[in-house]
Amino acid sequence: MCGIVGYAGARDALPVLSDGLKNLEYRGYDSAGVALCEGGAPTVYKTVGEVDDLRAVLPDASEATVGVGHTRWSTHGEPTDANAHPHTDCTGDVAVVHNGIIDNYDDLKAELEADGHAFASETDTEVVPHLVEAELADGASPADAFAAAVARIEGSFALAMVVDGTDAIYLARQDSPLCVGHGDGETFVGSDVTAFLEHAREVTYLENGDVAVVTADELVVEHDGERVERPVEQVEWEADAAEKGGYEHYMLKEIHEQPRALRQTLSGRIDALEGEVDLDVDLPREYLNSLEEVQFVACGTSYHAGLYAANLVEEHADVRATVHVASEYQFRGGRDPWRTLVVAVTQSGETAETLAALREADRTGARTLAVTNVVGSSVTRLADENLYIRAGPEIGVAATKTFVSQVTSLALLAVHVGRERDELTPTEASDLLEDARGLPGAVQRVLDADAQVRAVAEAYADSDAFFFIGRALGHSVALESALKLKEISYDHAEGFPAGELKHGPLALVTDDTPVVAVLTGGARAAETVNSVKEVESRGAPVVGLCTDGIGEKFVDDALAVPDLGAMSPLVANVYAQLFAYHVANLKGRAIDKPRNLAKSVTVE
Ligand code: F6R
Repeated sequence: MCGIVGYAGARDALPVLSDGLKNLEYRGYDSAGVALCEGGAPTVYKTVGEVDDLRAVLPDASEATVGVGHTRWSTHGEPTDANAHPHTDCTGDVAVVHNGIIDNYDDLKAELEADGHAFASETDTEVVPHLVEAELADGASPADAFAAAVARIEGSFALAMVVDGTDAIYLARQDSPLCVGHGDGETFVGSDVTAFLEHAREVTYLENGDVAVVTADELVVEHDGERVERPVEQVEWEADAAEKGGYEHYMLKEIHEQPRALRQTLSGRIDALEGEVDLDVDLPREYLNSLEEVQFVACGTSYHAGLYAANLVEEHADVRATVHVASEYQFRGGRDPWRTLVVAVTQSGETAETLAALREADRTGARTLAVTNVVGSSVTRLADENLYIRAGPEIGVAATKTFVSQVTSLALLAVHVGRERDELTPTEASDLLEDARGLPGAVQRVLDADAQVRAVAEAYADSDAFFFIGRALGHSVALESALKLKEISYDHAEGFPAGELKHGPLALVTDDTPVVAVLTGGARAAETVNSVKEVESRGAPVVGLCTDGIGEKFVDDALAVPDLGAMSPLVANVYAQLFAYHVANLKGRAIDKPRNLAKSVTVE
């Protein structure tokens, strides 16, 4: 989730773009660039690094009154100068910035290369300027050329383009936000309003499928080839609130971003009809068939993602799967490196213990795979193969969207390994992938029930000890839910396999210890109901995260989880995120920066 800024007006575009990029820095970035229209082909300045690094290569002023800028969060191609946006065509007349992922870029790139186009980057984005170039060469106007290029790309995108000889910015939006700010004789473009909030507060938000042209004083939007009007809204937020998209905390914003993050995670990777997965990792079929063990190494929330994944791998790929707290990995023996795949799960890619475990695995000769959110992070340089979860930058210390994207990426890995080992039929794989495909919608339905979660949180927020129980996939979600609550509310919260309660923890259960039970598909809900009865008979109130028909009548508060088979417990986890958030917020905690914790733990 990169950042886009654009300007068309009468003043020098350069400082407006440069300040806009600075405002977008909070989103995270690894490179930045601008394209300035100074009369003639756009002049492009770009560099890997921070906006200040870009500023070091920018001139002090420019003649340009139109331009676009970009901060990049890599999904295709390492963070390098060449991969930074804007991207241009062969002539240099067209410059494009892009947020999102173009699913069919491989095919388009092959076609364009066969037609003689030379590519300068490893990005998916670069197909767009070359597609526009081809249309322009055939005599199309810039607007038609842009619309024709947009019609050929699949995936999620917010695009902004400038072209030699025009004073317009060409925009398109599909599943990635883009808005236009209306000033007095000048127009601003942003992937969110923070890009231009100090200049314009009257804003038009483009909708999915919109293609638009903006000039200094006009916005023309088309949808399905027809001109449409989009409303102009007044933005009341101050900059700090705008960075959080109007949410009170980054954590809440990131919880609400999950449907989009999940779409990005899945984008271009699954063919649910055929039961096929394309993860772009080099794990040959013979190697996967020789495997005797998959070891997941990780810390904290990522460890819980590993637990979820191990369950899926064992069930669907019929290979032993073990999960290791990374800091303990070096103390374990009994490895056969030649038949072991070691999977390091780390959203930051920088966690010292996970890196140390991966080095240890590498030393023994095992093949290694990193599952991470950060392209170019330390783990990607250590591992043999990388699988990016594409959740976009996460600012809140408590991991939310990265957890769901980790689990989803790992579920795709389980399907891939299962298919290659012939343990999953295409039909079985197809069913699992359909469930994965349903995730963004199912998570959205949970988010839509936020008021209900808040009411439940209000009922129990005075308690200072909570238990979470679940079985099978629900066990990892119980652990993750307890971690989320404890780290941001500072309450005592523990997750247990439901069957373990009676072996000790039941002694702690009273009428003041709410119990949250995962009662979904994929989580052995019928058996967990027995544990629910055990705690209820000790007076504990029970909140059930329930798939239709399982468990509602046994709990005090039921939150409905859409049925998505093995993905249902992951959807239930979103309720637990909201529950943790509201309990912590009611207690007035520092939710985005809980005491004693850091986003990235780079010391052992
Ligand atoms: C909890 C949390 C931490 C991290 C852990 C590992 O919300 O964020 O438990 O999961 O520090 O971090 P990564 O995934 O960056 O290796």
